[in-house]
Amino acid sequence: MILITGGCGYVGSHAVARLLELNQDIVVLDNLSNSSKSVIKQINKISDKKFKFIHGDLNDRTLLISLFKDNKIDTVLHFAGVKSVSESIKFPTKYYLNNVAGTINLLKVMEQNHVFKLIFSSSATVYDPENQIPWKEEFSTDKLKHPYADSKIMIENILKSICNINKKWKIGMLRYFNPIGAHSSGLIGEFNINKNTNLMPNINKTFLGRQNSLYVYGNDFQTKDGTGVRDYIHIEDLISGHLRARDFIQNKNGIFIWNLGAGKGYSVLEIIEKCSTIYGKKINYKIVDRRPGDLGEYWADIRKSEKELNWKPKRNLDRMISDTYKFIIKSKNNLF
Ligand SMILES: NC(=O)c1ccc[n+]([C@@H]2O[C@H](COP(=O)([O-])OP(=O)(O)OC[C@H]3O[C@@H](n4cnc5c(N)ncnc54)[C@H](O)[C@@H]3O)[C@@H](O)[C@H]2O)c1
Repeated sequence: MILITGGCGYVGSHAVARLLELNQDIVVLDNLSNSSKSVIKQINKISDKKFKFIHGDLNDRTLLISLFKDNKIDTVLHFAGVKSVSESIKFPTKYYLNNVAGTINLLKVMEQNHVFKLIFSSSATVYDPENQIPWKEEFSTDKLKHPYADSKIMIENILKSICNINKKWKIGMLRYFNPIGAHSSGLIGEFNINKNTNLMPNINKTFLGRQNSLYVYGNDFQTKDGTGVRDYIHIEDLISGHLRARDFIQNKNGIFIWNLGAGKGYSVLEIIEKCSTIYGKKINYKIVDRRPGDLGEYWADIRKSEKELNWKPKRNLDRMISDTYKFIIKSKNNLF
């Protein structure tokens, strides 16, 4: 059985849907701090296969102990975490308690139950900004950035350390670039758009009239049109990367790091233009000052993931945006 932490969230829900399609037995643990039970109903429309849901927190050790006692867990896909850079600057300790302490708790209970296979959601934010583009897995991650990125670096280091000591661990750390898009059914996607400060949720809020326009932070970067350039990857390609990583670690002990991105970048204005075209409505935006710490451009070097995981992102930007459109039209009353 696979334990999926954070399985009601954006990335986790797509993993649950895909694994159910593959007829896998799943238990989801989620505290619903950034999601809703309605996601489970949506997943149940995609797959007839049922899964267990446990409403609870990673930091609840007693709950984790009984979860592992009641279910024969073989592998953990660990998505649960808080993920807002701006919130992490306001409430740093929340990020260390939830992400770092929560993960340590999970590792402790895994170890006690002799469960050593883990796929962890890391982030491109771990890379030091001075690294040359495209970013490779072996590049440095030493600098302090903001508590969100720092919490991911701390977890990466803890995972490296436990693997160094106990050779039974089989861990894949996946550094996501910018997952966007939605399930091809349009039934699940990025639900919690109101609290989210990322580009796509803001485009969607503007499209749905929940705000008049969105802010574009800076148009004076050294990039093709002056706005920030990022690497966007379709959520379904990101999930395929997880499945390949899970297969890879089955027979290999140790820790492995892979980038999951498209390996190329699009500017903020390119994304807004593409959404205006595909959504059939002009998305209004205002250029404002850069945010401190924002980088001009970066994207992933995905050659290691392509080679070792035999994985390639298949869906292009048009597909990312048209799947998002299908999802927001189908779910607009549900987007909490
Ligand atoms: N979406 C992105 O752009 C992105 C990029 C890089 C890395 N990541 C990482 O991927 C993971 C999943 O991201 P997402 O976009 O699906 O986020 P999300 O907020 O949509 O999903 C996370 C889920 O975890 C749950 N959760 C949070 N803390 C928990 C806890 N202590 N106990 C139990 N459940 C808890 C939330 O309720 C939510 O359902 C996160 O670890 C995030 O940092 C995401």
